[in-house]
Amino acid sequence: MKQEHAARRNLLSIYDLSPDEMLAIIDSADRFEELSRRSIKKAPALRGKTVINLFLEPSTRTRTSFEIAGKRLSADVINVSDTSSSTKKGESLKDTVLTLDVMQADVIVVRHGSSGSAQFVSRYVNASVINAGDGMHEHPTQALLDCATIKRNCATIAGLKVAIIGDIAHSRVARSNIGALTRLGAEVHVAGPLTLMPADVASLGVRHHLRVEHALEGADVVMVLRLQKERQESGLIPNLREYARHFGVNRNRIALAKPSAIVMHPGPMNRGVEIEPEVADGDQSVIKQQVEMGVAVRMALLYWIMNASDPLTN
Ligand code: NCD
Repeated sequence: MKQEHAARRNLLSIYDLSPDEMLAIIDSADRFEELSRRSIKKAPALRGKTVINLFLEPSTRTRTSFEIAGKRLSADVINVSDTSSSTKKGESLKDTVLTLDVMQADVIVVRHGSSGSAQFVSRYVNASVINAGDGMHEHPTQALLDCATIKRNCATIAGLKVAIIGDIAHSRVARSNIGALTRLGAEVHVAGPLTLMPADVASLGVRHHLRVEHALEGADVVMVLRLQKERQESGLIPNLREYARHFGVNRNRIALAKPSAIVMHPGPMNRGVEIEPEVADGDQSVIKQQVEMGVAVRMALLYWIMNASDPLTN
């Protein structure tokens, strides 16, 4: 059984962080971004620490940015994936993480297809655990990087109208962003087909609209979600063309938001389905900036996780 570490920090859910802690991590990302823009992108903050990225579901952005973040802070970073690990031979998640833990990992970053898996892992290991996406449940680091991107572009988060469009029911990105944005004072509006709305949507503290146009009107931020085809039962939407016609974010629909509105998408995108290429690549899009902020925010988070006694003051 694992020992209890009083000072160990985890990030399993966005609700693990208070609004002040979220803002401290977001604001400290600036100095890590500055480091990433130097010609020698390296600081010794995590020298001698071991970060294991255990990714048992596909990932490009999240896995790469955690790897880059750890390496820029001088940690030893090891990547374990589904195809390259003994999970492929049937080893359980519990046995896999117990094995990684006795190798003295300091941080285990875990992505897994089951909701609750990060919480499960944290019960068995001494390492700090970061949830990099657990099924349909949460993706707290995506919410942090999205809030950092919003704050960068809009100066503040409190009082903004944020429209989240698409497959809310299957989206861990939506759940974590709703938890972050509502507690940071944004007014969150969601729209998408009823079959892709969680049954308890009203209890999440958001306004639900049946028509995408109503969510978009006057929005400061438009967050488009990927249709999570791999998590859906069949028959939830008639077909992709119908979905794009009624809910796809295109140039005409974006015109309903404020002229200064920013357009976000966590990636990977289904171009021509939930978002038209002209919007994804248009002037209002901050999709690439989200990726860049992802590295800086994950550096800030790893630093915060490993320096439990440091309140992140400069
Ligand atoms: C998201 C994820 O994996 O939850 N992607 C990401 O981390 N950038 C969103 C998605 O897959 O739709």
